[in-house]
Amino acid sequence: LRRSADNLRSPICCIMGHVDTGKTKLLDCIRGTNVQEGEAGGITQQIGATYFPAENIRERTKELKADATLRVPGLLVIDTPGHESFTNLRSRGSGLCDIAILVVDIMHGLEPQTIESLNLLKMRDTEFIVALNKVDRLYGWKPCPNAPILKAMKQQSTDVQNEFNMRVTQIKVQFMEQGLNTELYYKNKEMGKTFSIVPTSAISGEGIPDLLLLLVQWTSKTMVEKLMFSDEMQCIVLEVKVIEGLGTTIDVILINGILREGDQIVVGGMQEPIVTTIRSLLTPHPMKELRIKGSYLHHKELKAAQGIKITAQGLDHAIAGTSLYVVGPEDDLEDIKEAADQD
Ligand code: GTP
Ligand code: MG
Ligand code: NA
Repeated sequence: LRRSADNLRSPICCIMGHVDTGKTKLLDCIRGTNVQEGEAGGITQQIGATYFPAENIRERTKELKADATLRVPGLLVIDTPGHESFTNLRSRGSGLCDIAILVVDIMHGLEPQTIESLNLLKMRDTEFIVALNKVDRLYGWKPCPNAPILKAMKQQSTDVQNEFNMRVTQIKVQFMEQGLNTELYYKNKEMGKTFSIVPTSAISGEGIPDLLLLLVQWTSKTMVEKLMFSDEMQCIVLEVKVIEGLGTTIDVILINGILREGDQIVVGGMQEPIVTTIRSLLTPHPMKELRIKGSYLHHKELKAAQGIKITAQGLDHAIAGTSLYVVGPEDDLEDIKEAADQD
């Protein structure tokens, strides 16, 4: 496989933030789905994954008439829970992403799990964009469905604009207290030093084009080296699930490399590492959530980054959070089992 700037893998973007700030709803808005309303208590309890092909992103950003040339095949977006009891899942999500979206509710400002998420991102030096969500809740907001945020802002009364400016100023101060400079993205003159804020509504879609454009521009501009495809495998097990008709399956995130049907794999197991063979490689349709049961697409091989459901024998005692290894023709199975055992 060539390692070059025209052979990039899809970036992985993780959505983080305090409970009920609208992380899942933002994804629903982009996907045109309704995952959030199907969640028990409206609470996300698992890591999710959705693949957005480049053409869908281009379509959603075209009104901005900016250069949304995608040098990557698409974007893999990871949804994480915001509830305080899921720190381990937030940590896992932030550990596998190239960039993050930190969602903040404009009516609430920074909350405990916003700060916890911030600290996880700081720890790994991960770039992030702030989605300042729920702008439609500003008193008197006039909806402008799916409009770029500046266009929507121009339609608002002076009162709405004043309330918006006041809240943004307060939230910038709260970020400052966490040691971070932030600025509305369209005023941000020092990207990379000052973190960008994109006002959004997950209900009426204002600001979504801006958020997607910024994500794509930022990753294409600053991450080419990091995103150059390499066949060094990197793959993490997210969930172990019994699916009717498929038996025990594992949901994985392929961060780097290629997986093929028939590959011999090793994953962490309750007693000892599990050695098995990939029976089928399944993905949801593009723009659909991996953690939601639906119809699957079958693949002979898949290239990173992807969220994948794997069926194979003997997965009953697989452990979520561990790495998945592929046993290549030159590899020693015992070495790989040892590596899996130490996960
Ligand atoms: P967890 O995953 O449980 O942490 O929550 P979340 O951040 O994914 O938030 P979720 O998408 O579940 O949304 C929480 C609630 O806020 C739901 O009732 C949504 O309908 C509502 N909501 C989300 N985004 C917006 C928004 O932009 N505007 C308004 N008015 N409501 C929103
Ligand atoms: Mg959620
Ligand atoms: Na929620």
